[in-house]
Amino acid sequence: MCGIVGYIGQQQAAPILLDGLKKLEYRGYDSAGIAILNKDTITVSKTKGRLKNLYNMIDGGNKLPGTIGIGHTRWATHGEPSDINSHPHTSTSGKIAVVHNGIIENYMDLKEYLTSKGYCFVSETDTEVIAHLADYYYNGNLLETIARIINKVEGSYALGLISSDQPDRIIAVRKDSPLVVGLGEGENFIASDIPAILKYTHNTYLIEDKEIAVLTQDGVTLYNTDIEEIHREIFTVDWDISAAEKGGYEHFMFKEIMEEPQSVLNTVGPILRQGLLTIDKIPDCMHIIACGSAYHVGIVGKYVIESLTRIPVEVDIASEYRYRNPIITENTLVVVISQSGETADTIAALREAKKTGAKIFGIVNVVGSSIARESDEVLYTLAGPEIAVATTKAYSTQLAAVYLLALSLRKALGQLTPNEEKRYGRELLRLPNLISAMIEQKDKIQYYASRYYNARSVFFIGRGLDYALSLEGSLKLKEISYIHSEAYGAGELKHGTISLIENGTLVIAVATQEALFEKMMNNIKEVKARGAVVLAVATEGNTKIEECADGVLYIPKTDPFFTPSPAITLLQLFAYYVASLRGCDIDKPRNLAKSVTVE
Ligand code: AGP
Repeated sequence: MCGIVGYIGQQQAAPILLDGLKKLEYRGYDSAGIAILNKDTITVSKTKGRLKNLYNMIDGGNKLPGTIGIGHTRWATHGEPSDINSHPHTSTSGKIAVVHNGIIENYMDLKEYLTSKGYCFVSETDTEVIAHLADYYYNGNLLETIARIINKVEGSYALGLISSDQPDRIIAVRKDSPLVVGLGEGENFIASDIPAILKYTHNTYLIEDKEIAVLTQDGVTLYNTDIEEIHREIFTVDWDISAAEKGGYEHFMFKEIMEEPQSVLNTVGPILRQGLLTIDKIPDCMHIIACGSAYHVGIVGKYVIESLTRIPVEVDIASEYRYRNPIITENTLVVVISQSGETADTIAALREAKKTGAKIFGIVNVVGSSIARESDEVLYTLAGPEIAVATTKAYSTQLAAVYLLALSLRKALGQLTPNEEKRYGRELLRLPNLISAMIEQKDKIQYYASRYYNARSVFFIGRGLDYALSLEGSLKLKEISYIHSEAYGAGELKHGTISLIENGTLVIAVATQEALFEKMMNNIKEVKARGAVVLAVATEGNTKIEECADGVLYIPKTDPFFTPSPAITLLQLFAYYVASLRGCDIDKPRNLAKSVTVE
């Protein structure tokens, strides 16, 4: 995915656009560019590479005077990262410039048609068709032009568009890609995400799909595709810009791990005070759909919900679920987990499920995001903005959310006794302290990272909830340190993959589940017998594990359901220190993006 920004007002636009793009770099960072409209002329400056290349090229924006402009930071989908493929893209005349986040799925047909009309394309991108289509449809009214465009294009888009023929406005529109309109005093903004504009305004429009925003210096008007004016409530953002800045930490990822105790407390506290969730209808079965780390939370959810309610739970990655013709009835509860609330595959899977009449329960971190808006019910994980591409605090709050959902379902079934409710509630409120205790172990974790950061390949093994935890520990490690890693059910390793264990292979054995501890001890001995080096994660008191593991990190005792909560903080910190020792770009790992808004 990419990040787009736009500014129209009385200040110089370029520095504001650069500042906004900096806040959006987590969305994509292989190239960047801005277009400034000044004295009826559009000037574009764009380059491959990080935003700082663009910043240096235009001297922080001083070389591009003007009070209207649009900007873009790219995560390449069509066409390699290059100067020419960078956005903004312009019409041949140079009178129209556009920035885009998403994918125009029918761009080849449109490109063919426009070429037949004499248009020449200079880039490999899908976005360039928008610039030429705008030129082709332009009839002196940019609003009508954009309305015609969106009736022609298929796919996902958040677009910002300026024209030297109408130098007093920016036109913006979205479908399936996020876009927020910022409302200032004598100035207005567009951005892919709130952090880009929060320094200037807390007042926003969270526009819906195919709503068109016309921004002038003095105001913003919204239209539908029939060019009828529409009204939307102002959404006032209730968190401040410091939440979207590093606050003295070296990396956002570390800062966000440090915020986990408070984030988990923010998520469970109010619900435990007000009472568990009201479940209107007990489902016959549940489907949990998500991607990546959110999917790993879903696996924890399956184990816990099935144990506490005996309701069958299927967990699926969204990109598979949406194409496998799942068996869904109106008695199926579909739980959709997403930090960003904008993951394309997860949105598509949600829509597939919704067609069948199933109820959609969203567990989402970004207020007003697409998944939040399209769910029938939403449980917000109050982690605050998460900037680092590798999720940490959002994952931890998602865990807390699935615990709350499981207990709420058990209560709705009439199976949660008052004593149980008190005990589980008390234990959930202890989790922030348990996570803090893990953070206090950071020096010991850093020590182990220093011993193993040169590993060529790392295997994570676990059983039950520790298997789900191993999946996430493995993903964290590989996505920020680029070390190959795999997670295996500890009982499954011997069915093939154990052939890869050789002298010195690092195996991280997660053994927090008391009921499976002896089994895990056997699995550790199995890999040790083949030369592995074992770093174990165990519950305090189980010191027997030191007899066979080469190193042990302990988590405090807690309910077996809740051990993933403190344990994941250990694994996140381990990945963080390994990546740091390897000199990796921790907040912006190569090839990744914070929210994958393309399929
Ligand atoms: C997070 O560390 C991963 N980079 C990624 O797998 C992420 O969890 C996944 O893309 C889902 O994102 P979402 O929660 O915003 O839907």
